[in-house]
Amino acid sequence: MHIAVLLKETLQYLDPKPDENFIDCTAGEGGHTFAILEKISPKGKVLGIDWDAEMIKKINRQERLVLINDSYANLKKITNENKFYPVNGILLDLGMSSWHLDESGRGFSFLKDEPLEMRYKSQISSLKSKNYLTARYIINNWRGEEIERILREYGEERFSGQIAKKIIENRKIKSIETTFQLVNIIREAIPARFKSGKIHFATRTFQALRMATNSECDNLKTILPQVLDILEPGGRIVVISFHSIEDRVVKDFFKEESRNNHLNIITKKPIIPSEEEIKSNHRSRSAKLRSAVKI
Ligand SMILES: C[S@@+](CC[C@H](N)C(=O)[O-])C[C@H]1O[C@@H](n2cnc3c(N)ncnc32)[C@H](O)[C@@H]1O
Repeated sequence: MHIAVLLKETLQYLDPKPDENFIDCTAGEGGHTFAILEKISPKGKVLGIDWDAEMIKKINRQERLVLINDSYANLKKITNENKFYPVNGILLDLGMSSWHLDESGRGFSFLKDEPLEMRYKSQISSLKSKNYLTARYIINNWRGEEIERILREYGEERFSGQIAKKIIENRKIKSIETTFQLVNIIREAIPARFKSGKIHFATRTFQALRMATNSECDNLKTILPQVLDILEPGGRIVVISFHSIEDRVVKDFFKEESRNNHLNIITKKPIIPSEEEIKSNHRSRSAKLRSAVKI
């Protein structure tokens, strides 16, 4: 079961009031969605979006909740098609859900031996179409320099060069199909003394592959200007990110739009989880929340 991250703080900054409407761009298992729905009763609605059809199937239906299986990168199209307005607040809780790691069977976790898929959008993977990009495709087809780049940029992996080199060596012998094959390759590439740190040695590579497979940074850059267009004046935006690149994208967008007099930044510094929250939900440890209000 996914535990909603920074739930109290999200409600504080979204500030949902009776009869207002909200968009949860990453509905996941509905943790934030249902907390917002409670605050906006009796008439307020939530438009809940998730790219993963399995997540949408898992959420309990209710009258004031409109559920859409699509990428939030298409936010404007989705709100127009569903005539969902006025919008008083928009939430983005980036990344994956606990279900993706623990149960999806799509290779998000380095602790389970699964096919190297790593896609939110659950469709049969095809090596031919760019629309069906998978981690397996990246690993077996991208140039070494490109693999190194995503490991460095998205994973902040200090051994990106060594790991990329080992991947290229290994894929010449045999195609790399599973998470455990990849974990063994990373193990070979990393110096012995770095294999027993606090963070598992495959964490950064897996994070980078997930972000590249799903174009996570591009999706975020695509949605932010749409959020500005859709929100009512006085409407609130909350973004929870788990990666420094994503946090920077949000910070820079807020700054730019504050200079343009379109947004008031509410969180001068990002809000981070309390020690108690981190203790009870380890996944929250790298979360950063930023919020702004449309002028
Ligand atoms: C961290 S989880 C959200 C958890 C949710 N707030 C909760 O409390 O249960 C992120 C969700 O975003 C979804 N997601 C990732 N990229 C997406 C995109 N481009 N469009 C829509 N949903 C996306 C994932 O499938 C995942 O379910």
